[in-house]
Amino acid sequence: MEPILAALLGYLCGSIPFGLILTKAAGMGDVRDIGSGNIGATNVLRTGNKGLAAGTLLLDLLKGFAPVFAAGFIWAGEISDVAKAFAAGGAVIGHCYPIWLGFKGGKGVATNAGVSFGLAWVIGGVYALVWVSMLAIFRISSLAGMSAVVAAAAAAPLFGFPQFFPVLAAIAGLIIYLHRENIGRLMKGEEPRVGGSK
Ligand code: G3P
Repeated sequence: MEPILAALLGYLCGSIPFGLILTKAAGMGDVRDIGSGNIGATNVLRTGNKGLAAGTLLLDLLKGFAPVFAAGFIWAGEISDVAKAFAAGGAVIGHCYPIWLGFKGGKGVATNAGVSFGLAWVIGGVYALVWVSMLAIFRISSLAGMSAVVAAAAAAPLFGFPQFFPVLAAIAGLIIYLHRENIGRLMKGEEPRVGGSK
């Protein structure tokens, strides 16, 4: 029962579409009508409003971190890591398939960053390091995000948290699947760069 409740807690937090809420609140219309149609910070940045993009990034990160962190307290003891893993999976699924938007959400990179910090600081640290480094080098958001997602899954057993490998590997699989159009553009050299014209 505890894992199901933890997953539900994660899902409810993860399903809050901050990118859409912030852009609508700022009177910038529906972010799903521009760029890639994604509700994440990268696409919010395509509105030209850096503050909104930063806010989306931060809130999407927090909605991943909060339920995982909370699950560790609510379900303390032996069940703690299982509860955290289910909350983690629930949060990313909530962002990618939010009930409020007909199950059409984002790609989960920022939410999974928060999830990774909630599972273990070192996993979050690896995630952030790879994400920021890849972004700085290539300036391609999707490539940086997918690299970070894979690195976080690999970091779990390497840094003493093998219990979190299954959920992080499953999340990595889901996030890469959701980036299939980005991967197609990357292979053709057509993926837009952050801050670039195209
Ligand atoms: O986090 C989403 C990013 O990896 C790709 O976003 O809008 O370029 O498809 P987008």
